[in-house]
Amino acid sequence: MNVSDLKVIVTGAASGMGRHFALELAREGADVIACDIDGAGLADLAEASDGASGTLGTVRANVAVESDVVSMVQHATDKLGYINGLINNAGIFRDHLLVKVDKKTGTLKKLPLDLWQAVIDVDLTGPFLCTREVAAQMIENGVRPGVIIGISSISRHGNPGQSNYSAAKAGLVADTKLWAAELARYGIRTGAIAPGFVDTPILQAMRPEMLEKLLSGVPVRRLGTPQEIYQGIKFIVECDYFTGKVIEIDGGLTI
Ligand SMILES: NC(=O)c1ccc[n+]([C@@H]2O[C@H](COP(=O)([O-])OP(=O)(O)OC[C@H]3O[C@@H](n4cnc5c(N)ncnc54)[C@H](O)[C@@H]3O)[C@@H](O)[C@H]2O)c1
Repeated sequence: MNVSDLKVIVTGAASGMGRHFALELAREGADVIACDIDGAGLADLAEASDGASGTLGTVRANVAVESDVVSMVQHATDKLGYINGLINNAGIFRDHLLVKVDKKTGTLKKLPLDLWQAVIDVDLTGPFLCTREVAAQMIENGVRPGVIIGISSISRHGNPGQSNYSAAKAGLVADTKLWAAELARYGIRTGAIAPGFVDTPILQAMRPEMLEKLLSGVPVRRLGTPQEIYQGIKFIVECDYFTGKVIEIDGGLTI
């Protein structure tokens, strides 16, 4: 499948990697529907896409809300005629140890249920809802081939302080595998990418000494770029024999 043949939804496209993916895909000739909760970021993205050979439309939607996702996918289908690609990129983290004793006060702090739930809702329920709606649309409209890509994380292996995030990102990889098995008969492939530390606003906001500490564990001693993660997306789109697998792009962090 060629990138220029894609009619693709990118979630979380107002910032960071999602913004880069949406712009690169449109520049390479894909028709893109960029989805996010951040309306101002989407407007900025639409402006930045001027001159791309493909089209870029935007839609405000919360991937964790079923009715939003249903109307977002319907809107995308109406606008482009059909959808043959989805990039489940929207994600948040809300880090907290499972239980922690405050050194000064001696009080025990527990990971609050709402922090657990917020991350599961966006990072796991979001991809589930988007994939369900897009796959249903592909099957109903006889669209094939189709490709569905999830942005997981190396935290899927279990990162202290990230019970919620690690569970969601591991769950996304598990679903990527089983969706590949379930959807192959309809000509739909899946894939996931598990990035290491990537240069996006989240990490740009980090204190330099924290960043230095982070990078000391990365053999190539630098952050990845959104373009290097995009290269993984392009590979999954273009390789018709690839399905159900996760590619780790992490500068060697998980060696
Ligand atoms: N940056 C990294 O180092 C890194 C590493 C591994 C994995 N990831 C994953 O890559 C993806 C993109 O990360 P990023 O660093 O570009 O983050 P980012 O914060 O720059 O962008 C995330 C985007 O998702 C949007 N979003 C959040 N909640 C949403 C919701 N409910 N519905 C729709 N949109 C929503 C935000 O508004 C934002 O525009 C995430 O899934 C993240 O977990 C990032």
